[in-house]
Amino acid sequence: MRAIVLEEHGGPEVLRLRDVPDPAPGPEELLVRTGATALNRADVMQREGRYPQPGGRAPAFEIPGLEFAGIVEAVGERVTAFRSGDRVCGLLAGGGYAEKVVIHERQAIPLPDDLSIEEGAAIPEVFLTAYDALFPQAGMALGDTVLVHAGGSGVGTAAIQLARISGARVLCTLGSDDKGARARELGAEVAINYKTSDWAAAVKEATGGRGADVILDFVGAPYLEQNLQAATPRGRIVFIGTMGGPSGQINLGVLMSKRLQLFGTVLRARPLEEKATLAQAFIRHAMPLFRSGALRPVVDRVFDISEAPDAHRYMEANRNFGKIVLRIP
Ligand SMILES: NC(=O)c1ccc[n+]([C@@H]2O[C@H](COP(=O)([O-])OP(=O)(O)OC[C@H]3O[C@@H](n4cnc5c(N)ncnc54)[C@H](OP(=O)(O)O)[C@@H]3O)[C@@H](O)[C@H]2O)c1
Repeated sequence: MRAIVLEEHGGPEVLRLRDVPDPAPGPEELLVRTGATALNRADVMQREGRYPQPGGRAPAFEIPGLEFAGIVEAVGERVTAFRSGDRVCGLLAGGGYAEKVVIHERQAIPLPDDLSIEEGAAIPEVFLTAYDALFPQAGMALGDTVLVHAGGSGVGTAAIQLARISGARVLCTLGSDDKGARARELGAEVAINYKTSDWAAAVKEATGGRGADVILDFVGAPYLEQNLQAATPRGRIVFIGTMGGPSGQINLGVLMSKRLQLFGTVLRARPLEEKATLAQAFIRHAMPLFRSGALRPVVDRVFDISEAPDAHRYMEANRNFGKIVLRIP
């Protein structure tokens, strides 16, 4: 099969298309012929050598890619839930920028007929991350006020929709008014341009001084102190990304007096059992909402897989609102 491989770390030019051996499915795995994969910030970090694929010894090369959509080509002998020809999408620990992938059947998500393969590839990583952060982690409740940072990111566009549809009031921060207008179309009530305003003060103002019950943060260090200010007493802050840096200082007095809870999360390094449990909950609770049209993957732009370096440049320039998809012909 052909795949985009990383034989060295560096700029987008190190992403090269070449022939590699096909993966082989284990007894409980599906072999899927992919039609599309999608970019995630983690792919950029992996390309730069800052986020190695989990597992033992470093392989001769890595294939980036944390998600896919495609058609099942073969199944292992103990697979019961899928058969050849089924449309599926799912989360991977790596290997998605390729014509074929393998996935455990309990992690695979059936793809409804009314979603295209490109849309399917835009669902797993960002919707599973946002779903997990809002509900199992932060315990979001009806009527909560949710603040989503990087509201135009893949995960941000998923979180805005999931929070809104679950009865939350949604505020978000973004880097342009254009992205803000698009976030409002997705269901955000308040979109704050962090480049032109003091976002923590804007959150306070929009909530009558109360603050947010749940904050999803992807920025990290530069937002630490302001996140504590913008949270309501007993608020929950989930750290999902560190795009602005990983280390900072907080005032523990604020944490204690507000009785705040801070959570950190990653998906990729979790054991199979945890990922399978998450995928099964997502299939039950969220996938019907894609079928009804209440949730939709936000696809910003589709590139051919051979254009992966350009797709990475596009992401690094922060130009996307929602997902950047790679079509695999
Ligand atoms: N923990 C997990 O399991 C997990 C899973 C998936 C993703 N993530 C993390 O979630 C974050 C978003 O990922 P993604 O793939 O959805 O991202 P994305 O689509 O590439 O979007 C990222 C957006 O964040 C904004 N941004 C970038 N640097 C910023 C900074 N220093 N301060 C404020 N805003 C900044 C930019 O939009 P503006 O124009 O608004 O600035 C950019 O377009 C990443 O940190 C990623 O690593 C974590």
